[in-house]
Amino acid sequence: MTTYITTPIYYVNAMPHIGHAYTTIIADTYSRFRCLCGDEVCFQTGTDEHGEKIVQAAEGEGISPREYVDRISDSFRQTWPGLDIAPDHFIRTTDADHIKLVQDILQKVYDQGDIYFSEYSGHYCKGCERFLTEKELVDGKCPDHQTVPEEISEQNYFFRMSKYQDWLIDHIKSNPEYITPERYRNEVLSFLSEPLEDLCISRPCSRLTWGIPLPFDKNFVTYVWFDALINYLTGIGYPNGPDFDKHWSVAEHVIAKDILKPHAIYWPTMLQSMGVAPYQRLHVHGYWNVDETKMSKSIGNVIRPGELVEEYGVDTVRYFLLREMSFGRDSSFSTEALESRRNSDLANDVGNLFSRALTMLAKYADSIVPEIDKATVTEEDRVLVDALEKMVADYTTAMNAFEFHKALQSIWEVIGMLNRFIVTNAPWELAKDPDQAGRLNTVLYFLADSLRLLALVLRPVMPTAADKMAVALGQADELAKATLEEEGCWGRMPAGTVLHQGEALFPRLEKKKKQQPQAQTQGKGQGKKGQAKKKEAEPEIDMEGLITFEQFGEVELRVAEIVTAEKIKKANKLLKLTVKAPEERTLVAGIALHYSPEDLVGKKVIIVANLKPAKLMGITSQGMVLAAKETDADGNERLVLSTVAGDIAPGSRVA
Ligand code: MSP
Repeated sequence: MTTYITTPIYYVNAMPHIGHAYTTIIADTYSRFRCLCGDEVCFQTGTDEHGEKIVQAAEGEGISPREYVDRISDSFRQTWPGLDIAPDHFIRTTDADHIKLVQDILQKVYDQGDIYFSEYSGHYCKGCERFLTEKELVDGKCPDHQTVPEEISEQNYFFRMSKYQDWLIDHIKSNPEYITPERYRNEVLSFLSEPLEDLCISRPCSRLTWGIPLPFDKNFVTYVWFDALINYLTGIGYPNGPDFDKHWSVAEHVIAKDILKPHAIYWPTMLQSMGVAPYQRLHVHGYWNVDETKMSKSIGNVIRPGELVEEYGVDTVRYFLLREMSFGRDSSFSTEALESRRNSDLANDVGNLFSRALTMLAKYADSIVPEIDKATVTEEDRVLVDALEKMVADYTTAMNAFEFHKALQSIWEVIGMLNRFIVTNAPWELAKDPDQAGRLNTVLYFLADSLRLLALVLRPVMPTAADKMAVALGQADELAKATLEEEGCWGRMPAGTVLHQGEALFPRLEKKKKQQPQAQTQGKGQGKKGQAKKKEAEPEIDMEGLITFEQFGEVELRVAEIVTAEKIKKANKLLKLTVKAPEERTLVAGIALHYSPEDLVGKKVIIVANLKPAKLMGITSQGMVLAAKETDADGNERLVLSTVAGDIAPGSRVA
């Protein structure tokens, strides 16, 4: 099978940020995943280099557009390897073959009568580089750029997009997978329920020269979208390239919601006019905000992927972006969220599992994968095998559906199971009893083979970490060329394989001002010898990052009775509470979407009573209400307040 996956080609008026990185990591992960499925893959990204925005950016730097686009395009190209992104093809709209193809296509569409010349006047938004319809304006402004569009009246060339409206509606309706997730498909169908206007596809040279000249009228250059979308064909050799049909028949585009209309409406109608079959699938994701705020240069909160990689490493960045965002929904980036995923999902869960399992294989089997002792296989082992095979199946379904967060969830369920498998089977206990030697070997084999499967499925998401895992498992060559079909099942780890325990995969991130843990003994760095006996019982517990009893005691938790609760104007998530704990105090709690004020009065909840006061929407909050948060597979959150199980006086200390 073949896969052809593309990202948008990015405008070179800005340097790459995590939004660009996210889309490109998605395409890279999918490309690696399809390779794992045995496909021949073509993954294309690139840069979009014509148009007014680029001219303005070059002017801002005092250099020519050509010099400017070369520089920024290069910085996109140079950014990707640092993120383990490996496109097969990097296209630029200033490439000679692309310019020629755009002109050939324009000529063909013109010759067949789908391009005509006409007068037009309308609201032109420079940010969008297009005319906006009356309906699109909000308070007379472009909703995306918050600027009042210019009233422009000029003669231009138009593409007969309206001619293909019925065909497009029919195509989208009869191909439910054409645009996913469904909300974007519905958005497009709703837009198409109104008459479609023709598309203005030229700009007079008097206004713009940095573009591809129309082949049939040298006084005009083509509109940036007509130029840009065609990149998806240029890259695979349309019309006569030897592999064109093979790639185009499986074409999949990944974009964010900002460019849905050009991809879901302009592009398929252009293809239909050209006599080229529509692409197969359009995958649309949401937007990354930063700390709940839109990312923007003027706010100064733009996150550069290179800086993140430098601080946290490439695997953490890729994992975080793929795990944190439910594909299709918006998500908020914060370093706290990234650090928390690094420490909990990567250091504690998968990192710890690898180091515990490899340490035990070293200690009890001299780092050589033992043979299973069939007589000692238990029902619990069989449950684990079923879970591992179900993980591969669920992961495959989710990856094919672009539900990366779900694919990772299914892997992490098994990681949790394996960590519990170690605890319940306690190999350190089995090792003490010579009669249990067979069972010990079985347990160790199960661990080694499970790690191999994890290294296999994690490869598309975290290629560098997966390589380290494969080396540690003595499977570097095997896993580098493995396919899911051949290797994605239980029991493929050859007994006798020599393992190598390397460095920790994901060392915990140290808190910036971390206090030295006191009292509780047995931390890392304590000599092995002096405490041989105790270590034997719990050899693999990593004390790093745990807190002492005293540290926990610093947090003052108290029972508080809610006396009043009210909504706060203009803050749809917040409620203002007055509580007794035992003295009265005011709290602001982010629970308004989950509780109505009248349900809260009289409830006894748990609060952090010694938190420094903070001002929220002008109200000073003297503490924090505790609640448990659950996030379902689609990213929907549910909050449930922490309460006490019996009646107790307000103000009672919780410890
Ligand atoms: N040049 C056009 C695309 C032409 S494709 C034929 C363009 N370029 S862009 O540089 O503005 O890139 C837009 C794309 O960048 C989005 O669709 C998305 O892939 C990515 N993102 C930019 N900002 C983003 C976020 N804040 N969050 C997520 N992705 C974002 O439009």
